[in-house]
Amino acid sequence: MTVKVPFFDWAGLYNERGETFSRIINDTLSRGGFILQKDVEEFEDRLARYVGAKYAVGVSDGTNAILLGLRASGVKPGDEIILAGHSFIAAAQSIHFAGATPVPVELGEDDWLVSPEAIEAAITPKTRAIMPVHVNGRVCKMDSILDIANRHGLEVFEDSAQAMGAKFDGKGAGTFGRWGTYSFYPSKTLGCFGDAGGFVTDDPDIYERVRAMRNHGANKAKSIPVDVDVWGTNSRLDNVHAAILTYKLGYYDETIARRREIAQRYHDTLKDVEGARLPPAPDADPRWFDIYQNYEFCHPERDALRAYLSERGIGTIIQWGGFGIHELKNLGMGRDLPRTDRFFRESLLLPLNHILTDAQVDHVCATLSAFFGSNR
Ligand SMILES: Cc1ncc(COP(=O)(O)O)c(C=O)c1O
Repeated sequence: MTVKVPFFDWAGLYNERGETFSRIINDTLSRGGFILQKDVEEFEDRLARYVGAKYAVGVSDGTNAILLGLRASGVKPGDEIILAGHSFIAAAQSIHFAGATPVPVELGEDDWLVSPEAIEAAITPKTRAIMPVHVNGRVCKMDSILDIANRHGLEVFEDSAQAMGAKFDGKGAGTFGRWGTYSFYPSKTLGCFGDAGGFVTDDPDIYERVRAMRNHGANKAKSIPVDVDVWGTNSRLDNVHAAILTYKLGYYDETIARRREIAQRYHDTLKDVEGARLPPAPDADPRWFDIYQNYEFCHPERDALRAYLSERGIGTIIQWGGFGIHELKNLGMGRDLPRTDRFFRESLLLPLNHILTDAQVDHVCATLSAFFGSNR
């Protein structure tokens, strides 16, 4: 019988510890723990400690986490914010809704994250901030990016939706700039059973503002003070999601270890394949600790490989549908980024999550070897 490897096994993400999850959900709901109860505070506390930030705020999702951060930072119309073309549209949308302009730039060749040189070349008098997006669970080159930001007087806001727990020089993704955000969408490394997100900062003013803004301007569950001084909205993290996330954070290190193990297997399988361009291996450079939200690699025969894997029960995905934010011409973001375009023509995500069995990983590796063996 052929082993099947769906790209996402959604039910599996619940069923891995279904009885415990049901118990947590039941315990939380049966005591009326719906909105901004102790579970949210407990999760915020744990999240801040885990990533090494002073403050954390639980929010409804990763997209709104970015929007709240931008608004709390006073980003205004006319401001430009630089980010990679190879970013999820969510970051650009939040920049737009904060009134500013997203400026997409090229990838670097070695890590396929935003190129510091491309950032510096895109700076204008209107540039307000740099937004490193730590795609695939790897931190961008933060030493160079912070250096550029300092030299040009720019702020740094990190979209760490895909990188909670990733590190560079021992420091956590999301803690390098003024603030950082995370997504706990079900497929994320720390995934919830619905939408959820997190916001972290060391800045007490930003913290207070975001905490108030996610709840109509109030810091407590109900009662909005008459002297409310920020325009807020409803971007609260659901209490029951917070309870689940706190539990999942308890075994998150194991989750990441398993992802890194699988990434190493894919690396070993693909490292000698002609024409393949691989992400850095887990132990490639001790300065980086990657959490492998995805294993994204490039090969010129991407489409043939994808069909071959699919015929053998292996699901793959082309990240973000195969286009970068710089291609969104109708939204005014059209830019010529040839390196990013080539990346999207050749890139593929292999199945990668902590619930994959050894038999599933073996099947993916054997099928990759068979394809490249017969095609070389
Ligand atoms: C890089 C990146 N930024 C932002 C987001 C948005 O997060 P959410 O789906 O929780 O709104 C995602 C989620 O897919 C993402 O991958």
